[in-house]
Amino acid sequence: MTKLLEVNNLSISFTQYVQGLNRHDSKVITDLTIDVNENEIVAVLGSSGSGKSLLAHSILGILPYNSQVTGEIKYNGEVLTQELKEKLRGKEICLIPQSVNFLDPLMKVSQQAIGECEDDKEREEKKIRQREVFSKYGLDESVDDLYPFELSGGMARKVLLSTALLGDPNLLIADEPTPGLDKQSVEETISDIKNLKEQDKGVLLITHEINVALKTADRIAVFYSGHVIEINTAENFKDADNVLHPYTKALINSLPRNGFKLTEGVQPLDDVIGCPYYENCPARMDKCEKNKPKLINHNGVMIRCFNYEEVNDES
Ligand SMILES: Nc1ncnc2c1ncn2[C@@H]1O[C@H](COP(=O)(O)OP(=O)(O)OP(=O)(O)O)[C@@H](O)[C@H]1O
Ligand SMILES: [Mg+2]
Repeated sequence: MTKLLEVNNLSISFTQYVQGLNRHDSKVITDLTIDVNENEIVAVLGSSGSGKSLLAHSILGILPYNSQVTGEIKYNGEVLTQELKEKLRGKEICLIPQSVNFLDPLMKVSQQAIGECEDDKEREEKKIRQREVFSKYGLDESVDDLYPFELSGGMARKVLLSTALLGDPNLLIADEPTPGLDKQSVEETISDIKNLKEQDKGVLLITHEINVALKTADRIAVFYSGHVIEINTAENFKDADNVLHPYTKALINSLPRNGFKLTEGVQPLDDVIGCPYYENCPARMDKCEKNKPKLINHNGVMIRCFNYEEVNDES
């Protein structure tokens, strides 16, 4: 099993100036560790604001200028420097961005999808591929010459998707590729993502739709307030009894088939000293308030919860 992507202890914080003078650093991703193997789809599941897109942007090297990053990201065993990220981006590592604002407003969509070409021969070949991929997603020839502002939300999403797939990536980072798509296009997207996996590629699939994660992924990483709290197999996600973290259990119990039993509460937005789930956790202990559990390997499952650490480990 070859590791395609390794993210080790990634932390991201933003410096903001409150009322012009008071400097405030807020940590939005804390000590995040995740990996993707060849021939594997890893889903990242988490609610809004939990840090999913920032993870994607840090892998691609497109974080905002006011961010501070620590930790390490490796691709094929090699540390991903900013220079290497820029070299591989759009080629070996492709992003399906969450926002349609990633489209260049001044360029026709087919030109954007085709990208830079060495010569006319490459341009012609790519044009043929672009038409094939666009048609697969129901984008007819008249769409090729449109500018992004002329597209509906769903069409723009399909253009982003086609553009990333045309890059022929070895590692695809798909940031919420399905919302707003019709049922057939959702199925098409899932099938394309699975196809990449079959060709020994790796996919990091970011989604807040647990059903898409269950249908597509081999492993699922759960984000909570900038922390990975559990990484478990999609198979185990089918039953709340087979996952470990109290939040993961609550997530699965909240599925419609389980009668929407999601626990109350919101995710803390800023730095938390202890466990990020402390406020809402039905299984919390005193030490969870002021101490942060580490992400540990518990019988092959990565889990960040004191309930699974050794009893005598006082962190
Ligand atoms: N440029 C920035 N400056 C300060 N804070 C930021 C910046 N960009 C993102 N954040 C904060 O980082 C946190 C994580 O943002 P991110 O966009 O990664 O969330 P997400 O999990 O992708 O959410 P969603 O499901 O809504 O897409 C949020 O609280 C957000 O407000
Ligand atoms: Mg996002």
